[in-house]
Amino acid sequence: MKLAVVGKGGVGKTTTAAVLARTLARGGAPVVALDCDTNPNLGISLGIGDDETERLIGLRQSLDDGTQEHAPSWNSLVDVFGSDAPDGVRLAVVSAIDKPEPGCPCCGLSPEQLLRTVGFDEQTVIADFEAGTGTLTRLEEGAVDVVLLVVLPTAKSVEVARRAAELVAEKRLGRLVVLGNQVRDEADRALITAAFGDADVVCVPYDERIAEADRHGLAAFDVAPDADGVRAIAALAGTLTAPA
Ligand SMILES: Nc1ncnc2c1ncn2[C@@H]1O[C@H](COP(=O)(O)OP(=O)(O)O)[C@@H](O)[C@H]1O
Ligand SMILES: [Mg+2]
Repeated sequence: MKLAVVGKGGVGKTTTAAVLARTLARGGAPVVALDCDTNPNLGISLGIGDDETERLIGLRQSLDDGTQEHAPSWNSLVDVFGSDAPDGVRLAVVSAIDKPEPGCPCCGLSPEQLLRTVGFDEQTVIADFEAGTGTLTRLEEGAVDVVLLVVLPTAKSVEVARRAAELVAEKRLGRLVVLGNQVRDEADRALITAAFGDADVVCVPYDERIAEADRHGLAAFDVAPDADGVRAIAALAGTLTAPA
């Protein structure tokens, strides 16, 4: 089962991916969290801390400057460029690098290609994608099972997300679920449900405790597990992985 978390920058993709990964793993699923962002910070939201997140970023940079050996297979990629996060989540950083070797799983395959190439039959993969709709133009049918499109309740954000939703439908990229994030009131909720009425829509409230956790480089899932925003994302986990 493969899930891609997509949307504009700053809408809450990383927060969402991390809470979903931790929730599913705690429930017993073998979860691989893929950080596909060129500014990888999923580690922080997963709860491995700044230092370990920096170490993983450093490993990718060493690939660039030739001081890090390549990983010849998916398993070794997850081994070398990954880290164990709480609840049994395995984090792997697969962000694009500057000088890729064509076809090499650890650097020459874009995250989109990697998702299409590797079967992941046994694993639940939560991929935190690079910001923007470019990702969706590069994703191909069959690469993922579910696209979770994160959107803020603003006219601009909704407009961009509507185009993204159209791409998901046109390209048959899988089941679309829209997550309206940082919803503060009924008007926010109405804006999002009106725009995406024909898709599955879930709303996550604005929650100061999520922002506060990020300010300290901590996982909201650890420091504020009972925060309304965290609980709303966690509640979504089961429905996303249920067979269609
Ligand atoms: N529901 C929420 N309530 C309050 N703040 C949130 C919420 N979701 C995300 N944030 C904050 O918004 C910022 C961007 O979130 P992040 O997950 O890093 O977005 P992205 O990965 O899309 O760039 C972070 O500071 C995060 O703490
Ligand atoms: Mg992010």
